[in-house]
Amino acid sequence: MFGIRLVAASEAGTVVLAADGAGVLAGGDDETAELHRGSDDPGRAGAVVVLPRPLRTPAKILIVGVGAGDEAGWRAAGAAAVRAVTADEALHVVLPAGVDPAAVRGLAEGMWLAAYRFRDAVVGPRSVEVTLRTSDPDMYAHSLEIARVTAAATWLARDLTNMPASVKNPAWFADQVVAEAAARPGLTVTVRDADRLRAEGFGGLVAVGGGSATPPCLVEVAWQPEGATRHVVLVGKGVTFDTGGISIKTPDGMKLMKKDMGGAAAIIAATLGAADLALPVRITALAPLAENAVSGSAFRPGDVITQWDGTTTETTNSDAEGRLLLADVLAYAVAELEPDVLIDLATLTGANSVALGARTAALYSHDDALAAALETAGRNAGEQMWRLPLADDYVEYLRSDIADRHSSPVRGAGSVVAALFLREFLGDRADRWAHLDMSAPAWSEEHDADLTKGATGWGVRTLLRYLLDGAQAHRAAGLST
Ligand code: BES
Ligand code: MN
Ligand code: ZN
Repeated sequence: MFGIRLVAASEAGTVVLAADGAGVLAGGDDETAELHRGSDDPGRAGAVVVLPRPLRTPAKILIVGVGAGDEAGWRAAGAAAVRAVTADEALHVVLPAGVDPAAVRGLAEGMWLAAYRFRDAVVGPRSVEVTLRTSDPDMYAHSLEIARVTAAATWLARDLTNMPASVKNPAWFADQVVAEAAARPGLTVTVRDADRLRAEGFGGLVAVGGGSATPPCLVEVAWQPEGATRHVVLVGKGVTFDTGGISIKTPDGMKLMKKDMGGAAAIIAATLGAADLALPVRITALAPLAENAVSGSAFRPGDVITQWDGTTTETTNSDAEGRLLLADVLAYAVAELEPDVLIDLATLTGANSVALGARTAALYSHDDALAAALETAGRNAGEQMWRLPLADDYVEYLRSDIADRHSSPVRGAGSVVAALFLREFLGDRADRWAHLDMSAPAWSEEHDADLTKGATGWGVRTLLRYLLDGAQAHRAAGLST
């Protein structure tokens, strides 16, 4: 990640740009408004106007629109600016006087997010210097730090998700988490191997991972700052590759299934980010990791498995594997971890994109306040979600003749029914739970503003923002930590 440096310039005025770099004038002040006049879409967020190079000033000058001048507008501007400069240039950004600290957060996040490439370090400017026309740069430094942590966590989630499944087996994923956590004091990681999972009754996770040459495991990351009172438990689906199992997918349906651990990547990366920001909230992140493979030891359609809570599931279709391993872990979290809030993220159903298209996750919750908090966090962070109903009418779809339920009704409302399946394991915490089906937005087919082609890291930004908002509310309420 290239560096972004804040520089204070107390007076508004002419900014001299280095000859080797590119300069960006952003924002809605008089100066930039004047320069925008005559462009096709003046001021639209992310619109770039390149000024003709004046003689004797070899620096390239870009005028970048920030739309309404809110954080989203600045995020779009930041993304557009880094896309408009050639790699290895130094970029100088001049902000209007009196700009909100949220502008710096949006700008920096947009720059870093758009500059991401999998296994390629030479994209984006060599360095970025942001000139603030203020006498108090410190109030912006915190915003920049939050942006840096958010972007770094998103990069990590993208890296994990983009990694081919030939490398990314459950053990490899767990190793990455252990290594990342070791670099941060205050985090503890527990990895349960397949023997322990079997002994402790994680029947869904053991069944899903049973067909693979690389065994399943459960990664548990705990962030427990002293004095924290609230406990947020995050659960993420970690299927390192989903062939569909014996109910095998089509080639087209399978080709992107290395992304089926995007939920696990997001909750782990967000937890690491929360530790980086030393957020005063207890967090437990649980990532059940398994490869859903085809082999003689794979679980079959029609098998009956015993979940962690002792109830049974008839596995009608081995491609409905995510709910089986999530069910175990949700039940375990409810029984053992006393969560105040439980949030799970999962690339759970193709029906997510049928209902909501490529960019919007489906949100399910009985808790209006939690749903609203997540929607607000997502909106401010630049990730979209839409709340769908946990419709009781469809609970009967889950009925099985030979087990407590079956796993894969095919009567429509696939994303809703998957959420209802998960709810079965929430017990008395069903009203403190939110489920995000993020199958669609976990991946982008193209470079687009702050998204890069491939894994998007969807969820990291929303979760970090949600956790930060909670920490702020906590402080505002006058509680110690
Ligand atoms: N991992 C898939 C869901 C998915 C599909 C994620 C497309 C991202 C893009 C999940 O395990 C799955 O296969 N779900 C089935 C469930 C069905 C068999 C009840 C689906 O959605 O078709
Ligand atoms: Mn599947
Ligand atoms: Zn899957």
